[in-house]
Amino acid sequence: YENITSKDDYPIKEKLDEAQKNIQNNTAYALKLFDALLQNYSSSPRSLYGKAQALDVLAEQKRSNELLQKAIEAYLKVLDLDQVPDILFEAAAERCINRMRFIGNYNRAIEVHYKLIARFPQKTHHRNQLVVSLLTINRVSKAREILQETLSKNPNDGFALVHYGFILKTVDNNLNESISYLERGLSTKEPGVVDGRFYFHLGDALSRVGRTLDAMKVYEEGVRNKLFLSKYQRSLYNVARLKGQPWWKKEETPYAALFQALEANWKQIRAEGVSVLSKDGHFQAESENLKDTGDWKQFELFARGHKNANNCRKCPLTCKIIESVPDAKGCRRGQTKFSVMHPGTHVWPHCGPTNCRLRVHLGLQVPANTFIRVAEKTRSWKEGEVLIFDDSFEHEVWHNGTSLRLVLIVDVWHPDLTPGEKRTLSPI
Ligand code: LMR
Ligand code: MN
Repeated sequence: YENITSKDDYPIKEKLDEAQKNIQNNTAYALKLFDALLQNYSSSPRSLYGKAQALDVLAEQKRSNELLQKAIEAYLKVLDLDQVPDILFEAAAERCINRMRFIGNYNRAIEVHYKLIARFPQKTHHRNQLVVSLLTINRVSKAREILQETLSKNPNDGFALVHYGFILKTVDNNLNESISYLERGLSTKEPGVVDGRFYFHLGDALSRVGRTLDAMKVYEEGVRNKLFLSKYQRSLYNVARLKGQPWWKKEETPYAALFQALEANWKQIRAEGVSVLSKDGHFQAESENLKDTGDWKQFELFARGHKNANNCRKCPLTCKIIESVPDAKGCRRGQTKFSVMHPGTHVWPHCGPTNCRLRVHLGLQVPANTFIRVAEKTRSWKEGEVLIFDDSFEHEVWHNGTSLRLVLIVDVWHPDLTPGEKRTLSPI
């Protein structure tokens, strides 16, 4: 513990070491020792830092938010002391940020990022971590500004390059510029850049500018880096062992009763969808920038395992059917929604976020020349019949017909998930 010990801490170094030794396995005792030291040496950096660490460990052991708050306050006090060794300051600040992020307090974390940057202006790492916090709470313009400064001083910083490319792609939809930044960033292979999101968006940008072979190469590299399940299955929130195939047959699932109910009642389901469609303002435009051309809108009935009671009042039979199937109603990683697509629509190839669901489409109004490709096989809908696919695989939709296409989309839990997983997987 030499380099974390300041000049003032030297006379009590042995006592500090003794307390420090006990943090992990005798935490309450360590805390007592640090508190005792603080009685006499109230601005001892190591005593305060040790106290923060002990509180931090206790908070984890007891799963106590109150103790965690106390740990955070203690870390913060370390940063305000006069004579803190660099390495101690940095460790306290970084752990403080980590814990603030853990409880979702990004605004306070950002203040700590600024303290680190002020003390270590040369360390790009601290500027990059500020960007991560800013992006998490959607403060994109500030993040962009920090990244521009970083790249003007340090144009080859991989982490800054991929994050800047990510903003160009997902916020500005500036495909060509995003390709250049993401490619340069990924080629550094620095820690933090080998991340599925960057391969995902680089491939997507390449594919949208027509460089589909280059996109496939990026996806294959993502597979080699174990970021994607396969070149076509590029969801990022996955359970590893689940069977993955683009198209599913009814008999391959345990959901015969759902399919039967949907197909037996399809005309009434269609009537409910058409009735909502006949009034303005209920269907909402697709908002994920998946559309190339055309008009594509949705009306949501269930999402993330929650029923939209307002919308369900307009479609009582449809919602009653979904509510009778726990794996549809309770599918917290999916939705149930009507989807309407107008002639002239093309949806870019894309992948859903998770492999934990299967997507059921019930054809309701299906004109000719409407198609959906999943991985390498293209199909069309039939009125009154379901199609089942895994939307974590790349899929693409075309409407080259002349009247609107209406389907009901029902997401169900992947059949290989255990009851425990269905209860505990985070919603998407
Ligand atoms: C999709 O899941 O992206 C599409 O199949 C939706 C749709 O309306 O066809
Ligand atoms: Mn989709």
